[in-house]
Amino acid sequence: MNAISKFLLLLCFFYTSQLVAATATVSITDFQFTPTIVTINIGDTVKWTNNGGAPHTTTSTAAGEAWDKTLFSGNVFSRVFTKEGSYTYRCNFHPSMTAKVVVRSVEQTRINTGKILIPTVVPITLNLVGKNANLAYLGSYIVNAQAGCANCHSCPTYKLGNNPYLGQPKKFNPASYLAGGVNVSGGGVTAVSANLTPDATGKPAGLTLLAFKNLLRTGKDPDVPAALLPVMPWPIYGAMSDHDLDAIYEYLRAIPKATTPAVHCAQPGQ
Ligand code: HEC
Repeated sequence: MNAISKFLLLLCFFYTSQLVAATATVSITDFQFTPTIVTINIGDTVKWTNNGGAPHTTTSTAAGEAWDKTLFSGNVFSRVFTKEGSYTYRCNFHPSMTAKVVVRSVEQTRINTGKILIPTVVPITLNLVGKNANLAYLGSYIVNAQAGCANCHSCPTYKLGNNPYLGQPKKFNPASYLAGGVNVSGGGVTAVSANLTPDATGKPAGLTLLAFKNLLRTGKDPDVPAALLPVMPWPIYGAMSDHDLDAIYEYLRAIPKATTPAVHCAQPGQ
């Protein structure tokens, strides 16, 4: 394995082991930046290391995202990127040394982050046949990094040995992921979370897209139209855009079907 493939492997490792904020590394040798293009998410860091003998600079004059740092042999420089764009930079001492940092858009960052979450944090395989993959990845980001659906809808939420509340590296329990069975009763309300995985016809929780969106917007379960869902944070989720609710539904269509555990969990987030 040559140095570049080792480096790329390392880069892949950084991408899959870090979640929201990752670090991409660029090696400076005499006389090139490697790799010449790094593509990162908004909020990620790029770290340059001068592994050559001669001094070099990493310099960009891009409007709003300019930087200029001289690096002697062995020196390191890190910079966080917060704005979408394509930033060409060079070495001031050796202007033929040029390279590029590409920062994904907000939407692409969310899609990419949702994709990275699987299988690192959500150890499942998505069935993307006949689905919009990017929409499902966005749904993964919303479900797993924002909305906390698994805290209430997975029993137990975390895999044995992977419970973040015990200081362990976080991983959801794949066996009954989003299959319900968490008892969230309290304050005079009795409620056990529902199975959100696809039914025999592929519909998440047995709901059509229209019924699903209506439920998250109004708290009304089509099976029990007279009552409002207790505990479920539908008053919060109902404020999401149509696009985000579509994304959640597409993701839930793609997750594996699972059965609700016979013995319910006593509380969320176990
Ligand atoms: C605080 C706990 C909690 C969270 C977080 C939560 N839910 Fe729920 N959810 C419940 C409970 C409890 C029920 C069942 C209520 C009942 O039937 O009485 C439920 C029911 C549902 C139902 C109705 C299913 C059916 O067949 O009737 C859907 C759909 C649903 N949740 C989707 C979601 C999604 C999607 C998320 C994340 C975006 C989420 N829930 C997050 C507690 C929660």
